[in-house]
Amino acid sequence: MVKPHGSDELNPLFVYDTAENEALQAEAANLPSITISSAAAANAVMLGGGYFNPLTGYMNKADAISVAENMHTTSGLFWPTPVLNLVKDAGSIKAGDRIALKDPNVEGNPVLAVMDVEAVEELSDDEVTNIVQNVFRTTDPEHPGVATFMDQGKVVLSGPIKVLNFSYFQTEFPDTFRTAVEIRNEIKEHGWKKVVAFQTRNPMHRAHEELCHMAMERLGADGLVIHMLLGKLKPGDIPAPVRDAAIRKMVELYFKPNSVIVTGYGFDMLYAGPREAVLHAVFRQNMGANYLIVGRDHAGVGDYYGDFDAQEIFDTIPEGTLEIEIFKADHTAYSKKLNKVVMMREAPDHTKEDFILLSGTKVREMLSRGEAPPPEFSRPEVAKILMDYYQSLSS
Ligand code: ADX
Repeated sequence: MVKPHGSDELNPLFVYDTAENEALQAEAANLPSITISSAAAANAVMLGGGYFNPLTGYMNKADAISVAENMHTTSGLFWPTPVLNLVKDAGSIKAGDRIALKDPNVEGNPVLAVMDVEAVEELSDDEVTNIVQNVFRTTDPEHPGVATFMDQGKVVLSGPIKVLNFSYFQTEFPDTFRTAVEIRNEIKEHGWKKVVAFQTRNPMHRAHEELCHMAMERLGADGLVIHMLLGKLKPGDIPAPVRDAAIRKMVELYFKPNSVIVTGYGFDMLYAGPREAVLHAVFRQNMGANYLIVGRDHAGVGDYYGDFDAQEIFDTIPEGTLEIEIFKADHTAYSKKLNKVVMMREAPDHTKEDFILLSGTKVREMLSRGEAPPPEFSRPEVAKILMDYYQSLSS
């Protein structure tokens, strides 16, 4: 199986030993505490599950700037996006303190992790702008990822953490939430040798479905891990339970039995396009995938990124940095001439009118009017789940 990023063995920061976990929980009750941002909590969940291997905690200011500027930490580790615990006000917390990090997303704010604070530093406005510009390629406050980043505060709390639970992800998505450790184990149990990972934050339409079939066929893969984001999204995106149901239905009806696992990870969407695509590749390597599918406007939003920027960024990464490989997919669409979904560049005799092209926005508009998207765009069983959800919104 593909090696984790940056180390031979996966080193998840979740405390698996029950006695140690309980002891830390008891200790945490008497520690100074701070309720962290949703983004910082998502980072803790990813660190806990081994997805952010080999990081041992939150980055300090120098590492965050170095990662933003050139995708390496100050000690030379390849890493595409800052992994931060930003707060507005650190109160009396200082370097050397052990503190409890409280979960903003669970009622009562239980302790999510324990942190040994190595530094408390403040980012200047220029440093925030520099980080944001490098990571998101824009500083536009209308960009949802930029807005979330700017809203967290400018005080950087850095240092190693021990993770005590997986927030709301394990309780709300018991069948779907998986750690990188669990996915590696499942891949082993299946005996899969060549595994393709598919990132998604959407219910899977036919373009998505066909991308997965094409990747598996062309790569000769024996396993597919559909790996959906379970964390926070921008308003208007389809909530995780609905997506989960739609994807499971599609897999049940349109994929070979035992060739797919439907899973999810606990992270908030960054909408950082190319940089997020690279982060996606790093954590799919950590979960044991050999390939990640990257198609059109991967992890993008609005018109901030070019259609294939998230593929091109991989050409700038020095060879040998990552073991996972990218399956670069062209824009896929249903061909009315061929009666199937194709990669558009592979149908050079087609004009635009020969394809059924629907934007996500257009589909959402149709659904909210109670209209089903056409079967060439969405499988009818998937469309039904989505329509039921939209009807429930209006009733
Ligand atoms: S994402 O933010 O998670 O990337 P989405 O769930 O829509 O959004 O996409 C999942 C993957 O499918 C991404 O790699 C994306 O580039 C790819 N994709 C989605 N639709 C198409 C399409 N019509 N053509 C090519 N690739 C696509």
